[in-house]
Amino acid sequence: MMLQKWIATLLLAFAVGTISWLPSTSWAAGTTTDQQVMSGFSPEVQSQNTLAPQVFNSNADNTRRWVMFALAVPLLVLLLITGGLGISMGLYGKDLFLPHLIFAGLSITLAIAHAIVGIVWFRPHL
Ligand code: HEM
Repeated sequence: MMLQKWIATLLLAFAVGTISWLPSTSWAAGTTTDQQVMSGFSPEVQSQNTLAPQVFNSNADNTRRWVMFALAVPLLVLLLITGGLGISMGLYGKDLFLPHLIFAGLSITLAIAHAIVGIVWFRPHL
């Protein structure tokens, strides 16, 4: 029984890992090089960004990044706690469903807030 749970967990980790390594469509089309991807992060290219020029390379932008980071650190902690509680339940049979549920709820709330603020600030024309 315990072995089955470990195998299921390993398979899940393998599946998530495999999916996250799948190439994106632009890679599949063979049109994008590593250098082209990285050049998008250079200050020159970012200052020419026509989608949201006012967002890049300003003091306001740095404040926004700090706010995003301040939202993201507790989010990461909540996600790790939620995962830890889930693993304790799934692998070790602990009775932790309610705490797992509460931490999952807090995590998703903060993740949605962080994502909405991020899209509004960093992708205003999306
Ligand atoms: C459920 C998890 C998360 C979701 C759905 C999420 C979503 C997003 C989205 C949609 C943006 C806007 C990105 C853009 O359009 O440029 C963003 C930005 C950002 N996120 Fe997250 N995020 C998550 C977790 C985290 C974590 C764990 C960290 C770090 C501890 C983090 C740090 C940041 C930072 C620093 C930015 C600002 C990036 C920039 O300067 O453009 N996020 N996030």
